Amino acid sequence: MNQLRIMKEKKMYYKGAPKYELTPITSSWMHELFNDQVVLRGLIERYGSPVNIHHLPSFNENIINYKELFESYGLKYRIFYARKANKSKGLVKQAFTSGIGVDTASYKELEQSLSLGGNAENLVLTAAIKTEEQIKLAIENGVPIILDNEDECVLTQSIAKEIGKIASVGFRISGFEVDGEKLYSRFGFDVDEVVDFIGSYVGEQRTFDFLKVTGLHFHLDSYSTHQRSVSLIASIKIASTLKEKGHALSFIDIGGGILMNYLEKENQWLTFNENLKKAVVESNNDITYNNNGLGFRLEDGKLRGKLNTYPFFNTINKRSFLKEVLDFIDDESGLSVASLLLKNDIEIRIEPGRSLLDQVGMTIAKVSHRKKDAKGQWLVGLEMNMSQMMSSSADFLLDPFILYGSEVEVEESVDVFFTGAYCLERDVLLKRKITLPKLPAIGEYVAFINTAGYMMHFFETEAHLFELSTNLIFTGSKEKLSFFQFIDDNKIVLDS
Ligand SMILES: Cc1ncc(COP(=O)(O)O)c(C=O)c1O
Repeated sequence: MNQLRIMKEKKMYYKGAPKYELTPITSSWMHELFNDQVVLRGLIERYGSPVNIHHLPSFNENIINYKELFESYGLKYRIFYARKANKSKGLVKQAFTSGIGVDTASYKELEQSLSLGGNAENLVLTAAIKTEEQIKLAIENGVPIILDNEDECVLTQSIAKEIGKIASVGFRISGFEVDGEKLYSRFGFDVDEVVDFIGSYVGEQRTFDFLKVTGLHFHLDSYSTHQRSVSLIASIKIASTLKEKGHALSFIDIGGGILMNYLEKENQWLTFNENLKKAVVESNNDITYNNNGLGFRLEDGKLRGKLNTYPFFNTINKRSFLKEVLDFIDDESGLSVASLLLKNDIEIRIEPGRSLLDQVGMTIAKVSHRKKDAKGQWLVGLEMNMSQMMSSSADFLLDPFILYGSEVEVEESVDVFFTGAYCLERDVLLKRKITLPKLPAIGEYVAFINTAGYMMHFFETEAHLFELSTNLIFTGSKEKLSFFQFIDDNKIVLDS
């Protein structure tokens, strides 16, 4: 039964408040936009639904934060924004303007980044599969290539020789031993073999004489600072051995995977986790669509599995995460990781994607219809599809905001699921049931918070020939919000 309540504070926008709330951290620019629906309406009328909005000042702030941390240690460092996390050109341009580089993972990412101001100093190529054309473009422009395997060495050597230009390369390493366990990865050279390989085959008068090793690289799949510290210490040792053998290594790149925090309150996160488990065990799941356990399941009366989502709440995140990596004390030398880097004169590099996009983006969609399904549940159809906000895991666990066209005077609380435009039963945009103060009307908006990192673009498809959503670059407003502060990312021109 819906509850009727006179709203004390009349507002036009509300956060969805399900039984187990997951309140996202929001920024003032988001509220500014919610408060000025004239601008928002204009944007959606002009660009269609949904629109992705990217706030450049927040991106710049994240960059400054990482810079300040490295500078506080007096370290040599470089930051490369992993643009795989978001397709927008505007962010690449801003990365260069803010004095950092860009990590590219495909020919087009590299080519476009070069056209947007990238060069040998501020780009790196880390593609998982490297084509001839990628490698050629990188060598021609002096962009370092992170090599993953021997076949890539062969290909890079032959292209470099053909062009007549030495390729600057970094070696990706994996298989670090942490607490007695070898960390498996499908990527990279094995940590126990890389020194022999480089020592035997790479450099002047060796098989790969057109490759110049300038650094080492790793990217860990986990979110452990401990594993990163231990892997970094091992890499520093490898770098110093290789230096002794005459290789002029200058950097170690520790990739991305720096945790960020999406949620305001830890207790909400814990309560949600506990109650989801309880709902699965007791088989009375009224939290998610179609009893989805988001990774938990009941087998022979026992709870199995684990929450298969990003860990949305993290006390240690971004800057404090990196600080923890750098402050770790190496048992052998008694020195911190930061001191070891300084002592060995090694530049540390990072490639954050998601964490540099914290508070940068929002996806806003228009309500298309409302209906009650056969179970009596309200389904609110949005003009968007599941690929336009899709997590690589079971769900995106942040409460959305609902923007009403007028003030809500009487609360008539309603539980809804948001559904999308693909012809799939599973096109349900959030798996959690969301409680709203009032059923939204057709043409009102739903805003999904903090979607810039991977959520907007990574799985975006054009099934049914739906247009891809428009990416708007919001330069920020000092005074009154205006339509003209939003630049269509498609209109950002590339230098030819
Ligand atoms: C090599 C490499 N660098 C950087 C990143 C960016 O990671 P994140 O967005 O988690 O910071 C990834 C992500 O997969 C990666 O594979």
